[in-house]
Amino acid sequence: MNTIVAEPLKSLDEWEDDILLRYPEPKSETAEKQKDDYRNYDDPARDTVREFYRLNHQFQTYDFVMQKRREYLAFNKKEMTIWEAFDFLNQLVDDSDPDTDLSQLQHLLQASEAIRADGHPDWMVLTGLMHDMGKVLCLFGEPQWAVVGDTFPVGCAYSDKIVYPEYFKNNPDYDNGHYNTKLGVYKQNCGLKNVHMSWGHDEYVYQMMKDYLPEPGLYMLRYHSFYAQHREGAYDHLLDDHDREMFKYVDLFNPYDLYSKNPTPPNWTELKPYYEALVAKYLPPTIRF
Ligand SMILES: [Fe+2]
Ligand SMILES: [Fe+2]
Repeated sequence: MNTIVAEPLKSLDEWEDDILLRYPEPKSETAEKQKDDYRNYDDPARDTVREFYRLNHQFQTYDFVMQKRREYLAFNKKEMTIWEAFDFLNQLVDDSDPDTDLSQLQHLLQASEAIRADGHPDWMVLTGLMHDMGKVLCLFGEPQWAVVGDTFPVGCAYSDKIVYPEYFKNNPDYDNGHYNTKLGVYKQNCGLKNVHMSWGHDEYVYQMMKDYLPEPGLYMLRYHSFYAQHREGAYDHLLDDHDREMFKYVDLFNPYDLYSKNPTPPNWTELKPYYEALVAKYLPPTIRF
C-alpha cells in the first residue's frame, strides 16, 4: 500500500535529496564555495523544500515541542515487532517516481549494509537500520514539518546557520524575550541532554531506543538531522565535553545516511537471517510507539 504524504514535499526523500545539494561531499571534503552554489541553485523542486522549511520554522516553537513530547513519549500509540514496524513504515513509499524511489526499509538497509561493509561494530549496524524509524510519525498524522527536516534547539535564539533562517521571523518565539537570546532558557555549555530540540523523527527514535543501544549509537539517532551543529558548529555554546566526544560518532554516522543511497535495492531475502539475529541480540520482541 502506497501513501502519498501530505504537502508540501512530494515525498519525505525530497528533504534528504536537498541536504545532498547543500552537502554534496562528506564533512572533511566540504568546501566553502559549495554553499554559494546551493544558494544560487535554481530548481522548481527547491520551492517545495523552501515551503517545507517556511512551515517548519514558523511552527517549531518551544511550546509545540513540549506538547509533542507529552503526546508521543508516552508511547501508547501502538506496539509492534520490529518487522511489523518496518512494514508499517514502508507505507511511506511515494509513488510519484517509482523508478528511483526506494522504500524506507531499503534506505535503512543501504545505510546499515554500508556500515557493516566498513567493519563497524554490530550496534552501529543496528543504529543504521533503525535511524529513520521515527518517520512513522507521518503515519500517526503528523505533518512533514514535524517529522523531517534539519533539527535545531528550541528555547534559545535560532541560528542563522540553519537552512532558510529568514523564516524564523514568523515563529512566535522569535520575539519572545525568554527564548530569543543566545542562551535562552539554557546555561552556557549545559550539555545537549538539557536542551530541547525541534520535534521530529530523530528525538522520537532516540527515545524509543534509549534503553537498547550504546551511547554513541544513541547520539547518532538523536542528532543525525542536527546539521547546524554537526556541519556548521553553530551551537558550540550549548555542548558540554561529553557531547563533543559523542559528536565524533554523529560525524562518523552522517556519510552512511547521506551518501549510501543507491538505486539498486538490497537483497532482503539474503540479508534477513543476519538482521533477525542482530535485532534479537539488542532489542526486545516488541517495541512501543
Ligand atoms: Fe533521518
Ligand atoms: Fe536516513
